[in-house]
Amino acid sequence: MSALAKNYNRRKIAFRRGKGSFLYPTNGKKYLDFVQGIAVNSLGHANPDLIRAINNQAKKVWHVSNAFIIPEGEKLAKRLTQKTFADNIIFQNSGTEATEAAIKVAKRYFYSKGKPNKNRILCVKNSFHGRTIAAIFASGSKKMTEGFGPKVGGFDHFRFGNHKSLKKAITNKTAAIMVEPIMGEGGIKVIPDWCLRELRKICNKKKILLILDEVQCGIGRTGKFFAFEYSGVKPDIVPVAKGIGGGFPIGAVLMTKKVASVMVPGTHGSTLGGNPIAMNVGNAVLDQIFKKGFLKNIQKTSKYFHNELNKIKKDYPKLIKEVRGVGLLIGLQLFIDQSKFIQKLQDNKLLTIRAGENVVRILPPLNVKKPEIDLSIKIIRKVCKEFKL
Ligand SMILES: Cc1ncc(COP(=O)(O)O)c(C=O)c1O
Repeated sequence: MSALAKNYNRRKIAFRRGKGSFLYPTNGKKYLDFVQGIAVNSLGHANPDLIRAINNQAKKVWHVSNAFIIPEGEKLAKRLTQKTFADNIIFQNSGTEATEAAIKVAKRYFYSKGKPNKNRILCVKNSFHGRTIAAIFASGSKKMTEGFGPKVGGFDHFRFGNHKSLKKAITNKTAAIMVEPIMGEGGIKVIPDWCLRELRKICNKKKILLILDEVQCGIGRTGKFFAFEYSGVKPDIVPVAKGIGGGFPIGAVLMTKKVASVMVPGTHGSTLGGNPIAMNVGNAVLDQIFKKGFLKNIQKTSKYFHNELNKIKKDYPKLIKEVRGVGLLIGLQLFIDQSKFIQKLQDNKLLTIRAGENVVRILPPLNVKKPEIDLSIKIIRKVCKEFKL
């Protein structure tokens, strides 16, 4: 009997080790892991560079308070600002902390400008920004908020893709619009580039901040460092997490100077956020992702992957409704409930994970190799054959 609480519906497998794209269970044959901790292990399991980064730092200093200068964090922040829209960064430990910090920054920005009533955040209904008490009310999902009242105020919602409802929901109290450029948990739903550009225009016109939650779709996952880069927009605030730590817990909120300037001492903090080990690992992850050709290679391999999946879709038009996503953030939307399909993939040694709207989420490491993609295609095709409707 497990002493753990039952808040997860766990599959009955445990792993003794991982290597690259593969996981080795405590008994039985290895699995091709296209979950990778839900888009977390950006460089696969047991990456030697990341192991070195952890070990080296562990021998020096693990943790010091943010009351002191942390050189590894200074370095990571500088590199992120040199390569992105951001001028300043606050480090956290997880995605939900990063989105919470983003919300705080937006509110504090208008407070500091003498507009304390401009404090509401406009989000997509049934989006996902994490599991803290504020983040669940940001999502506006009944399932996530049920039983966690009283309602946390300050959030308004519009329907994904419904521009009328978006425009209607903006008031003079709206401080920021917060969206995921690609809704991960919601079913790998991509906001088209022209829509993101339109959002930016609306924000400029109404003098509201644009928060783009790149916790799942960011850090190279789509073949650009940020998913929003395809659209050319410049956000004000971007929370990230998952892939930046390659499996080590890191969160961060990236900001322009304009908004970051309001975060004066005492406005936000985290005991462990930005600790030396996390920062050293983050730097090692960036060493790989910023390598020449790394992102281009993701674009190339993912194009091949999408093409192969679309061929399967063509052969099984009654089973697969749509191949969704950008780069290596991939969703296979089925016409049927996806849980049996995911189970069958697992029986055939391919690990995937669900998302909303009957979607099977496929999240390989960013350095996935072509033969591994081919192996997954072979397994998916086999399972489709068994499912033929
Ligand atoms: C878009 C998005 N935001 C925030 C979060 C929350 O991240 P974490 O689980 O690290 O708190 C997630 C997690 O899946 C996410 O996909």
